[in-house]
Amino acid sequence: MRIRLNLLLIVLNFFFFISCQPEKEKETFHIGFSQAMTTDNWRKVMNREMKVEASMHPDIVLDIKDAQNDVEKQIDQINAFIEDGVDVLIVSAIQSQPITSVIEKAMAADIPTIVIDRKIEGTNYTAYVGANNIQIGESAANYILANSTGSISVVEIKGQEGSSPAYERSEGFAKGLSENPRVNLVAKVNGNWEKESIKDELDSLLQNIPTPDFIFAHNDRMALGAWEVAKKQGIQNKIEFVGVDGLFGPSGGIQLVKENILDATILYPTGGAEAIKAAKRIAEGEGVNKNIILNTVVIDPVNVDMMKNQFDKLQQQQKDIEQQQDLIASQISTYRSQRNLVRIMILLMILLLVLIVWSAILVLRLKRSKRNLEAINSKTIEQRNQIENFAKQLKLSNESRINFFTALSHEFKTPLTLISSAIETISDAGRGRTREFAYETSLISNNSKRLLRLINDLLNFRKLETGTFYLRPVKTNFHNFLNKILENFRTIAVRKSIHLELQISDPNLVLYFDQNLMDKVFFNLLSNAFKFTPKNGRIILNVEEKFEGEVHIKVRDSGIGIPKGEYQKIFDPFVQGTNNDNLSSGLGLYITKKFVELHKGNITVNSHQGTEFTIVLLKGRDHLKEFRPSESFADIPSAEFESIEEPVIIPSEEQLETKGTELENILIIEDNLDLSHLLKKNLSTEFHVFLSDGTDAVEKALLLVPDVIICDINLPGKSGYEICRELKDDLRTSHIPTIILSALSDEEARIKALKSGADSFMAKPFSFQVLRESLRSALYNREKLRYYYTNKIGHIQDDKFENSEQNFLKNLNCLIEENIQNSNFSVEDLAQNLNISRVQLYRKVKALLDISVNEYINLQRLNKAKNLLQETELNISEIAYSVGYSSPGYFSTSFKNKFGISPKQLRG
Ligand code: FRU
Repeated sequence: MRIRLNLLLIVLNFFFFISCQPEKEKETFHIGFSQAMTTDNWRKVMNREMKVEASMHPDIVLDIKDAQNDVEKQIDQINAFIEDGVDVLIVSAIQSQPITSVIEKAMAADIPTIVIDRKIEGTNYTAYVGANNIQIGESAANYILANSTGSISVVEIKGQEGSSPAYERSEGFAKGLSENPRVNLVAKVNGNWEKESIKDELDSLLQNIPTPDFIFAHNDRMALGAWEVAKKQGIQNKIEFVGVDGLFGPSGGIQLVKENILDATILYPTGGAEAIKAAKRIAEGEGVNKNIILNTVVIDPVNVDMMKNQFDKLQQQQKDIEQQQDLIASQISTYRSQRNLVRIMILLMILLLVLIVWSAILVLRLKRSKRNLEAINSKTIEQRNQIENFAKQLKLSNESRINFFTALSHEFKTPLTLISSAIETISDAGRGRTREFAYETSLISNNSKRLLRLINDLLNFRKLETGTFYLRPVKTNFHNFLNKILENFRTIAVRKSIHLELQISDPNLVLYFDQNLMDKVFFNLLSNAFKFTPKNGRIILNVEEKFEGEVHIKVRDSGIGIPKGEYQKIFDPFVQGTNNDNLSSGLGLYITKKFVELHKGNITVNSHQGTEFTIVLLKGRDHLKEFRPSESFADIPSAEFESIEEPVIIPSEEQLETKGTELENILIIEDNLDLSHLLKKNLSTEFHVFLSDGTDAVEKALLLVPDVIICDINLPGKSGYEICRELKDDLRTSHIPTIILSALSDEEARIKALKSGADSFMAKPFSFQVLRESLRSALYNREKLRYYYTNKIGHIQDDKFENSEQNFLKNLNCLIEENIQNSNFSVEDLAQNLNISRVQLYRKVKALLDISVNEYINLQRLNKAKNLLQETELNISEIAYSVGYSSPGYFSTSFKNKFGISPKQLRG
C-alpha cells in the first residue's frame, strides 16, 4: 500500500513538473539605455520608438533609466548597467565631456556601447546613431539663404553648452553662412534646449539690436520661445523663425510650421528604433556601421502637409502595430493559460486513469480477500460446529460417566447399610462372648458409617451441581430443632470432656426451613467442631435475633482454628484444610454453604483462638415463597446421623501382651488411630509395638531407637518423607530399617520415599502377610549387615563400603584404639566422645554388631593383645597393661575365654 502511494506521488510530481515548466528559455539580450532626460516630447518619442522596436523582438529585455538632466546621476546609472553586465549599453549623454570616461569604462568592460543623439568626446564607442548635426546646421543656413535676398541679419539660439548637437549644429550653421557675405550673424544666445532658458536674454537682445530677419534656434522648443519673445515685442511677423526636431503632434515642429509660427523646422529623427536594431545586431555578433546616420529634411510650408500626412500614416501604422502587439500578447497569454489548462487536464485524466486502474485492482483484491475471508469463516463455522458437537458429545459422555458413578454411589449405600447393621447385630448379640473381636467390629461399624457419609456428600454435591435440589421448607421451632441435633453429640461431648452449650434467648423462635438439609448443615458444623476441639474444650451454639428479620447462629469452638490463608477457600469443593485429616470428602463445608444459600441465607467463618461459623437465616416465609412453605408446625424427627461414630474399642494392653522379652521393637508412625491400633494388634505377637501419631515421631524414634520403623506419608506436621530423611541423617537412627506406608501408590511417591532413605515402600491397602514379610526381610537384611560388620571388625577401614554406619564403626574403633591403654575408659566416655547418649550407643552397637558396648571394648583390647603377642617381644604383663588390663591374671583368663588358649600357650 505504501509503495503504491509513493508511486502515485511520483507520477503526480512528474506531471506537475511538466505542466509548470516554463517554455524553453530563449537567449535574451539585456539592453540598458541611459536617457538624458524625459521632460520633452522628443525624448518621450525616442523612448517609445525603442520600446516598440524592442517589443518586436521577444529576446530583448530593455531597461530605460532616466538621468533627469543630472550628469552625476547619469554616471551612476551607467555604472549600474556596467555592474549588471548588460549585453549592450545605449547612452544619450547629457554633456559629452563628463560622460566620456564612464563610457570608456563600459567599453573596457567589453560592453558594446551605442551613443545616440548626443556624442561623447573622442570615438571610443561601438556606434553612433543619430542625424548629422553639422549637416542640420548647414541645412538651416541653406534655408535662410534660399529664402532671402540682400543683406540680412541672423540671430542664433544655441542648445546646452557641452552637448554635441549644440556645438555641431552651431558649427554647421556657421559653415553654411560663411560662404555668403550678405548674411550677418548678429548675435548668439545660449540656451539649455528649453524655451524659457532663452527668453530673458533674447528679449533684451531684440530691444537693443535692429530686428533680425531670421532667428535660427537649435530646436523647435527654443524657436517657439523666441517667437513668443518677438510676439511680446510685436515684431514676430518681421522675423522668420527656423527650428530643429520637426516633431509631429501638438506643439511639435510640424504643427508650428502649419500654424505659421515657424517658417521651417529641420527634421531631427530620434533614432530610437534604429538604436535597438543596431544593439540587437551587435548582441548577436553581427557587425554594424560605426556611424548610423539618420536622414534629415527641411519641413517648410511647401512640404509640411505631405510630411504631416506621412507622419499621420506612420502614426497610424505605429498604432496598428501596437494594437497587433497587444493582440498577440493577449493571444500568447490565452495560449499559455489554455496550454496549462490542457496540461492539467491531461494530468487529471492520467490521474483518473491511474485511480481507475488502482480501484479495479483494489476491487479485485477485495473480492479475493472477501472470498478468502468467506472460506476462513465457513471453515471457522465448521470447526466451531465440530467443537460444539464434540463438546456436546463430551458433555454427554461426561454426564453419562458421572451418572454412572452417581448410580454406583447409590448402589454403595445399600451394602454399606447392610454391613453396618449386620455388624451392629453381631456386636449387640455377641456382647461379652465376642469381646476379643469388639475392636474389629467397632472398626467395621465406624468405617462403614464413614463410607456412607462420604457417599452422601458425593450425592448431595452432584444434586447441587445439577440444581435438582427441591427445598421443602416447614415451620419449625428452632430451639427444639437445635436441641434434637445436639442430643446426638452429648455422648461424644462427655467422652471428650467437651463443654457443649446451646444459647438461645427465645425458646419460641420460629423459622421456616427444610429440616432435612438444615440437619446436615448443623451436623457438619458440629462434627467439624468436635473434630478440632481437644479434650476439655468448649463448643457453643449461639442464636441471636439481630436486625429486623435476621437470625444469626454461631457455632463456636475452642479448637485449633483455621490457618488465615485458608479462610477464602474453606467453602470451595474438594478443599481439605491443612489441619484436617484425610478421611473427609472435602465437600462438607461446600454442601453446608450451598444448603444455607438455598435458604437465601449466608455463612461466614472467622478463626481466632478457635473457629466461629456464622449462619444468617431470614425470619418469615416470604423469601421462600416459591417453595410454598407449609404454615402448620412440623414435627422434628430424631435426626438419623448414621455417620456419628461410636467410640472405638481400643484393645487393652493385656490383649496385646507379648510373649517374650526378646522380641524386636517396632515404631509405627500413623495418624489414623484405627489403622495404628489395628497394626499394633496384628504385630504385637512378633514385636514390641510403639505408636506415634506423627507429631512426636522423630523424638520417639530417638528415644526408643527401635529395630524397625513403619511410617505413613500424610501426617499432621512433618510428612513421612521428612521424618524418614531426618532419621536417616541422624547417626543414632540411621541404621534402622524404615518402611514407608502410603495411600499414594504412584511411581512418584515410591521414588520420593526411596530418595528420602526409606528401605522399602508399601501402598495401602496392604495385606498383613505382605507387611510381615517385608518386616522380616528388613530385619534379615539388618542381620546380614550385622554379620558383615562383626566379621570385618578389624578391617572396617575398607573404603568400598563407606556409609554412615561404617563411618560410625570407624570412629568407634579409633576412639577405642586411642584409649586402649586406659583401663578406666568406659561406655560413658565413648558415648560422650561420639556425641550420643549411653543408651543410644548401646542400642546402635547392639543393632549393628549384636554385642554390648562393653563386650565390644573388651573384644578390641583382646584382639590388640593377640596381635602384640604374635608380633612383638613384649612380655605378657606389659601387653596386659598396654591394652588396658590392670591385672595380668585377669587378662590371661579373659584371653583364654575368648580365644580358648592362654597368652602363654600362644607364645608357646
Ligand atoms: C530634446 C532635444 C531636442 C534636440 C536634441 C538635441 O531634448 O533638446 O529638441 O534636438 O535634444 O540633443
